[in-house]
Parts: sequence; C-alpha cells; structure tokens
Amino acid sequence: MLANVFLQSNGAPVHEALLALTIVHVMLFLAWLGVDTGVFYTSWRLRRAGLSAETRLELTRILVVLDRSPRMASLLMVPIALSLAFTGGLGLTGVSDAQMNAIFWPIVALMLLVSWALVRFERAQATGRLDTLFARTYTWVLNVIKVGIFTSFLATGIAALAGVDGLWNNDYIAWKAILFACITAAGQWIEHGFRDFAPAFGDLIANGETPERHERFDRAVKGAYPPVLTLYALVTVTAILGMASARGGF
Ligand code: HEM
Repeated sequence: MLANVFLQSNGAPVHEALLALTIVHVMLFLAWLGVDTGVFYTSWRLRRAGLSAETRLELTRILVVLDRSPRMASLLMVPIALSLAFTGGLGLTGVSDAQMNAIFWPIVALMLLVSWALVRFERAQATGRLDTLFARTYTWVLNVIKVGIFTSFLATGIAALAGVDGLWNNDYIAWKAILFACITAAGQWIEHGFRDFAPAFGDLIANGETPERHERFDRAVKGAYPPVLTLYALVTVTAILGMASARGGF
C-alpha cells in the first residue's frame, strides 16, 4: 500500500526518506518566503504616518512573531538540505550513513535550541535587557553559526564547481550551496540595514510622533528593504535551481 503511494510516474520506487526530506525542504521554503512576504507587508503598514502608539505596538508584535518563521526556516534548512543531498546521492557521497546521522541529529538539535532561544531573546530585546549572559551568549552563538554556514557552504560550493569530488555531485546543487552562503550574508546585511529600528521605534512611541521622528523611523524600516529584496531574489533563484536539478536540468 505504502509502496504504491511512493511510486514515481515512471514506476520507479521513491525512497520514503527522500520523499519526506523533499517535502520538508519545500515546506521550509514556504515557511521562509511565504511568511516573509507577510513580514514585509506589515512593515509597510507600520511606516504610515499618524498611527497611534497602540497600533504601532500591535503591528510590531505581529511583525516580530511572523519573522520567527523565516528565521527558523533558514536555520532548519541547513540539516534538511544536507540530508536531502546525501539521501538523494547528490552530495557528501564519501560520508557513511552512521557519519551522516552523527552530523544530522546534533545540527537539528542545535537549530531547534537556537530557535527556542530566539523567542527568549526577543523578550530580552523588548524589555531592553540585552546585557545579560543569555543575550550575549545567544548573539555570539548565532554569529558563530552564521559564519560557519557562510564559509562552509561557500567553500564547498566553489570546490565542487572546481572539480573536488564528494561534496556536491551536481552543478545545480553546488550553485545552491554558494547561493545559500550569499543568503546568509544577505541576512546579516538585513540586520545591519535595520539597526536603527529599535532606537527610532522607542523614540516614536515614548515621545510621540513628529515629522522628524516619523521620518527617522521610516528611514530605519526602509533601510532593510534593499537587503530584504536581495534575499527574496536569492531564495527564489535557489528554489528554481533545486527544481531544475530535480527535473534533470532546465
Ligand atoms: C533558500 C534555500 C533553499 C530553497 C528555497 C530550496 C528549494 C528547493 C526546491 C523548491 C527544490 C525542488 C524540490 C522538487 O521539485 O522536488 C529543491 C531541491 C533540492 N535542494 Fe534545495 N533549496 C534551498 C537550499 C538548498 C541547499 C543549501 C542545498 C544543499 C546544498 C539544497 C539541496 C537540494 C537538493 C539536493 C534538492 C533535490 C534536487 C534533486 O532531486 O535533483 N537546497 N530545493
């Protein structure tokens, strides 16, 4: 019965794990780009002049909660993408099943832990308590993870394209690895572009709206748009490369 469900149109059986990983991989794409458009729209509404402090606070709460989805999806994409490539024979071919399990589960656990810590960190951010051991450790660990993702995906992608075996066996996947590194860099660029948001928002809420305060706040939100749109484009191209690979090319 189950075997029938997992048959491809050409009749070849599909590895159940491969199918499950592909579904999760695509669901993460949805949780990332799909929900991020909601974040973008909320930010757009938040920039309007003349909103009450309550409305701005409520919109910001919605924005922060929605923004968890792309943040968590980008973290979980790492173990899922690695295991999808491995299970499909498209990457890490020199690695044994036992080694892959030893890599996969700790990364999943780490990413889930960081996702939980993100929610706690948001509470610290909202109350301005960023000088605690927890907040400093979280920021440090997240930065280490981002640097790790950026360097490892970029280096393995370039090495695979240069002909190094056992990393990514397919040029589409090698390019995806490079783009994923660029996506991680774009994420950092967003943090940089958004750096004046909290001070400008605090000023607007605490001291009331004036044209100058609103102008500063508007600029703070718009500062994130160029990297955000760049990231959307990169994620879209990465998804297209995945589909091209799954269908044997363009
Ligand atoms: C923003 C990040 C990513 C997005 C949005 C994304 C999206 C997708 C999509 C939509 C597919 C096509 C699924 C199908 O039609 O069957 C796919 C396939 C795939 N992706 Fe990703 N992907 C991302 C990152 C990665 C990374 C970093 C890797 C590994 C380096 C990776 C490895 C794969 C593999 C191995 C496949 C299957 C290709 C095949 O069967 O030939 N993906 N991806």
